[in-house]
Amino acid sequence: MERRRLVRVPASSANLGPGFDAFAAALALHTEIEVVETGRFAVVTDLAIAKDRRNLAVRGFERLHPPDAFEFRIRSDIPLSGGLGTSAAAYVGGLLAADHLFELDADILALATELEGHPDNVAAALLGGFVICEPGPPTQATRFDAPTGLEAIIVVPDEPVRTKEARAALPAAVPMADAVANIAHASLLVLGLARGDWDLVSRGLADRLHQPHRAHLFPRSADLVARARDLGALGATISGAGPTVLVWCHYEQTGAVLDALRRETAGWATVHRAPFEPHGADVREL
Ligand code: HSE
Repeated sequence: MERRRLVRVPASSANLGPGFDAFAAALALHTEIEVVETGRFAVVTDLAIAKDRRNLAVRGFERLHPPDAFEFRIRSDIPLSGGLGTSAAAYVGGLLAADHLFELDADILALATELEGHPDNVAAALLGGFVICEPGPPTQATRFDAPTGLEAIIVVPDEPVRTKEARAALPAAVPMADAVANIAHASLLVLGLARGDWDLVSRGLADRLHQPHRAHLFPRSADLVARARDLGALGATISGAGPTVLVWCHYEQTGAVLDALRRETAGWATVHRAPFEPHGADVREL
């Protein structure tokens, strides 16, 4: 009988403002990867992604086992424009499918981090909730839950930006004053999330390490981040390497902010509710 696994992995938003390469949160949009032992290699998907061995889910799987005899059926409702952890979700999905099929008990966080190059999206995709990552080796991630009442909206520009380009825009060194500001804001953000203190969350979303250096790649997204409080939200952050924007709201703000964002972004982006997702990647035997 052909062996078959279904892996479901959430989207994620990395950095969360001041936590460059260290903070991320899982979002309730998902990639599903069904891996079936048909005896023949194939990638079956309607998505605009690689259908050969360059496919990232296949590369994740291949890190643990040759994919030759397997068909990969991939579905996803995560937008592909950039900033929502699609590559991390694919690596994690492929790795988890192989790990489960062959009972390997591999260190998925370490392997996916190695493939992706940084741990933030990978850890959120794997664990769900909010994560704080310590740079490795060994890579370690600490998970915690979002406070009740915190909601998110994503603004997804039509025009994509490549993560490689966004990483190349960053300076090799940063001024001490910018590092100090980010330590303060990252600490305020975590304290605000732990206490459910909206004022601290709002103040804690500021960043000086990556968003200003990348703003020229997505000026409309950067402008939205700057004006998010005026539109009624707690604030906004560039999601991962952009251009997607994560808009942070208390539940009483979300409806009005959604309307304002739809008006503001007509013609260049789509706006979706994207609840924070408490559950990480899940694998089932079919
Ligand atoms: N922390 C990463 C970055 C996430 O901002 O480049 C993108 O994959």
